[in-house]
Amino acid sequence: MYNCGLLKFRKITSNSNKEFGALTPIEFLNEIPFDVKRLYYIYDVNSEQIRGQHSHKKLHQVLICLNGSVDVKLINHFGEKVYTLNDSSEGLYVGPDNWREMYNFKEGTVLLVLASEKYDEDDYIRDFDTFLEFNEKKYGRK
Ligand code: TYD
Repeated sequence: MYNCGLLKFRKITSNSNKEFGALTPIEFLNEIPFDVKRLYYIYDVNSEQIRGQHSHKKLHQVLICLNGSVDVKLINHFGEKVYTLNDSSEGLYVGPDNWREMYNFKEGTVLLVLASEKYDEDDYIRDFDTFLEFNEKKYGRK
């Protein structure tokens, strides 16, 4: 898929003590493909709710499901794909020009988002037809 993909982070556990748990470190400079300027987290979402339903013109993001499970559907000019995020040692990189929808939030899900820019409503495209037109102008007719 164009301009998106899964990132695998380390998961540090103890070989001798399974009950010790796990730790995932993320070195922003080495492991995140942009300078992180903002983070936010999405939580307390009802399982019937669909979130997202927009694209960004410039923003780069990495989505990390810290707890629970959520499906993320990405649509761009070159294809579409659904990612199930349920492993806190992986992150979904989502570049510009990807329409995203997040749904099937399991109870207790916490979705952490790292973002390359401060919040700017002008960077959003919230209408699907406008998104299709924007991408067609940028990437050509399908
Ligand atoms: P939005 O990005 O539409 O959420 P989602 O894609 O998860 O459905 O943002 C929801 C609201 O929160 C919207 O009114 C904008 C506001 N918001 C901020 O004020 N700052 C932020 O950093 C973000 C991400 C959203």
